[in-house]
Amino acid sequence: MTNLAIAATGLRKSYRDKSGDKVVLDGVDLAVPEGTIFSLLGPNGAGKTTTVKILSTLTAADGGDVRVAGHDLARSPDEVRGAIGVTGQYSAVDKLLTGEENLLLMADLGHLSRRDGRRRAAELLERFDLVEAAREPAATYSGGMQRRLDLAMTLVGEPRVIFLDEPTTGLDPRSRRAMWEIVRELVAGGVTILLTTQYLEEADELADRIALLDRGRLIAEGTAEELKRRIPGGHVELAFADAARLDAAVRAVGVGTADPEALTLRVPSDGGVRMVRDLLVLLDDQCVEVAGMSVRTPDLDDVFLTLTGREKETVR
Ligand SMILES: Nc1ncnc2c1ncn2[C@@H]1O[C@H](COP(=O)(O)OP(=O)(O)O)[C@@H](O)[C@H]1O
Ligand SMILES: [Mg+2]
Repeated sequence: MTNLAIAATGLRKSYRDKSGDKVVLDGVDLAVPEGTIFSLLGPNGAGKTTTVKILSTLTAADGGDVRVAGHDLARSPDEVRGAIGVTGQYSAVDKLLTGEENLLLMADLGHLSRRDGRRRAAELLERFDLVEAAREPAATYSGGMQRRLDLAMTLVGEPRVIFLDEPTTGLDPRSRRAMWEIVRELVAGGVTILLTTQYLEEADELADRIALLDRGRLIAEGTAEELKRRIPGGHVELAFADAARLDAAVRAVGVGTADPEALTLRVPSDGGVRMVRDLLVLLDDQCVEVAGMSVRTPDLDDVFLTLTGREKETVR
């Protein structure tokens, strides 16, 4: 059996406000094997940050059991704190300090010796491509650089389990890709990552397993492939120059939905290369000329829509 870096069962949390108790987490179970990336995916307000805060000891749950890095969170919060790093949705970077000073401050807080602290800071500046900016105030950094510094600060203490709460929200595509690369390297180095995101694409790209959180409940869990398999929606759409060719294609293929107005034929598909090739070969054998083609592979947006019945605008 693989060891779990994070195991939570029956997490519950409510906040009290004017209108009474508001249930934010309604019985969430999580199991994250060591050395993997687990993504908690959900729209704004789903309860992602609350989950991260509870698992990282920053907020107390109303109910549920949690073990992180082998320690019981209720009984041994200090041991849990010693094993984890958290990069929150809101940065821990002190913008008045330089990047290097921020890192040295973390080393001080982590009780590293001055020498070890300097060595660790230098390593991290190098690794996160911040050497040139190391002596500049963090206020002058771009959004992507601040996120990298923030993550570097988390790593000063060499945590085994890292919580990344929306690490790429608001970043431009290039900075986002740079962050993805860093996350992959971390996991290759053996750490475990719980990553929250609103971006279905990001979970798809990075995570070994994905849980969809919606209004405080997990509505689905699995690999990206497993989640995609749960939903229909993939197809190949073929376009034809005229009605005669469309009719010939309908006869040749035998399945799918023809649109005589648009002169298209939509054939259900997993979007795989083999299926698309076979389809084109079949039409070619029948001498049916295809004017255009598009392939639609089901993605996680489809999963969300199928499972919640709501459009993805609420997700992005
Ligand atoms: N300290 C708090 N007091 C009251 N309500 C809160 C508090 N923190 C979070 N909430 C509410 O809990 C819900 C989930 O919030 P959060 O965990 O931040 O979601 P997410 O990170 O997925 O956007 C939201 O409706 C939010 O308004
Ligand atoms: Mg949040």
